[in-house]
Formats: sequence, structure tokens, C-alpha cells
Amino acid sequence: MNDVIIEGHGLKRYYHRGSETVKALDGVDIAIRKGEIVAILGPSGSGKTTLINILSCLDAPTEGTLNVDGKSVAGLSEDQLVEVRRGLLGFVFQQFSLLPTLTVTENVELPLMFLGLRTNPERTRAILSAVGLTDRATHLPRELSGGQMQRVAIARALIIGPKILVADEPTGNLDKVTGQSIIALFKRLAAEEGLAILLTTHNTAFGAEADRTIILEDGRIVQEERNEPAPLISSSKVDL
Ligand SMILES: Nc1ncnc2c1ncn2[C@@H]1O[C@H](COP(=O)(O)OP(=O)(O)O)[C@@H](O)[C@H]1O
Ligand SMILES: [Mg+2]
Repeated sequence: MNDVIIEGHGLKRYYHRGSETVKALDGVDIAIRKGEIVAILGPSGSGKTTLINILSCLDAPTEGTLNVDGKSVAGLSEDQLVEVRRGLLGFVFQQFSLLPTLTVTENVELPLMFLGLRTNPERTRAILSAVGLTDRATHLPRELSGGQMQRVAIARALIIGPKILVADEPTGNLDKVTGQSIIALFKRLAAEEGLAILLTTHNTAFGAEADRTIILEDGRIVQEERNEPAPLISSSKVDL
């Protein structure tokens, strides 16, 4: 069975500034499977964001081949990439990006409005329950802790039913214990929903919790490790 959901070969992303060329990504081969959590680590400027943006079709490679969910995507236009992302990829960012005047429920349902889809209160409730926010559904973002805000952002990414969750520094604004709880949530979602999760982090301990750790330096993979499966911290069932 081929359960690879993202596969890239010889991926390069060069930026040109005047006569200078920045090799943000300089020849990366990578494959990500369904239900797998892959953590990308490396120093600032090593190309983590560039790699994750390319693998999630937010940006296009300068060179290389890329297959996402069975489709060849290298060389597609921005409009075509929007189509590929739709319903397939959910995004979570370091700064949460919640709308301050909307409630938790409204923030979570926002992607449905953008896509012109109907909201389904039952599904929203199930997702809020999966991320542990049932009792915060009518709160505003400013009434939440950082960890709770990131859970809202994760629920918002899940509302469209993606197969791949992409998170650039999702624990970057959180303290260690809160960051740990976000990683534990990712592990449950991967194990129970079969979501592929691609994340970047500066925290090597969080990286070690992923199924696989990839370390970047100067736009190249310099180390790759498969980590021992660790027990789930919380065993409560996710039911989406
Ligand atoms: N839009 C851009 N224009 C020019 N250079 C860029 C651009 N985006 C990123 N870079 C450069 O590419 C390299 C990798 O950046 P990035 O992927 O953001 O690294 P990381 O996420 O690991 O900190 C850096 O040298 C950065 O300055
Ligand atoms: Mg980055």
C-alpha cells in the first residue's frame, strides 16, 4: 500500500536579490506518510519555513518534483495551487491569527465562510471537544490563554477536514508545558484521524516526540532520525 501523501525530489527554492542568490532550499528529497508526524528543525534561516511552504503548496519550488495527495504540483500557477490546498491542507501558525471580535466558534467556522460552505454546529462542537475547548465556545480570543488560542487555531485548521496539517512554529509563542500539550494533541490527531502533520520547531524535545525529525542547515537536510514511539500523554478519544 502506498500511503505517501507528500513526496518531493530535488526541491530547490532560490531567491534573487540584485546579483545575489539566496539558496533557501538547495536540493531536498522528502516523503511524508499518512498519519505521520514529521518535525523540521534547524537554525534560524536554515529553510524550515521555505520547505514547509513548498510542501504545503503555499509556495512553488524553483526546481524539483513534488507530488501532493497523488497530484504533481510543481509548476502549477498560484490559482491552481489554491485549488490543490482547498480541503486538503489545514494551516496553523505561531501567532495564532484569530480575529479578536469573533467568538471561538465563529473563528473556528471562518474557513467555511471563505469557502462558501455551510456551518454544521454538531461538527463544530465535535472539533471543539477534540481540542478540549467545549467550555470556551462563546468566549472571545482575549479571554483565552496562549495554549487555548492555539487550540482554536488548530480547530479552525481541522474544520475543513484536511488530510494534512501544517504548523510553522506552532509552539513558538507558548511556554514549555503548554507547548507540550499542543504536541500531545497533534499526536492524538495523527494517531486517531490518520492526519499527516508537518511542523517546524526550535525545540529539540518537541522534535523528538514526532515520528521523524529532519534537521536542515543552509537549505539541505543534514540529519534525519526516526524516533522511538512514545506513549500518548492523553488517551482521550478524538471523535470528529
Ligand atoms: N521572500 C524572500 N526573499 C529573499 N530571501 C528569503 C525570502 N524568504 C526567505 N528568504 C531567505 O531564505 C533563507 C531561509 O529562510 P526561512 O525558510 O524563513 O528559514 P527558517 O524558517 O529556517 O528560519 C533565509 O536566508 C532567508 O533570509
Ligand atoms: Mg521560519
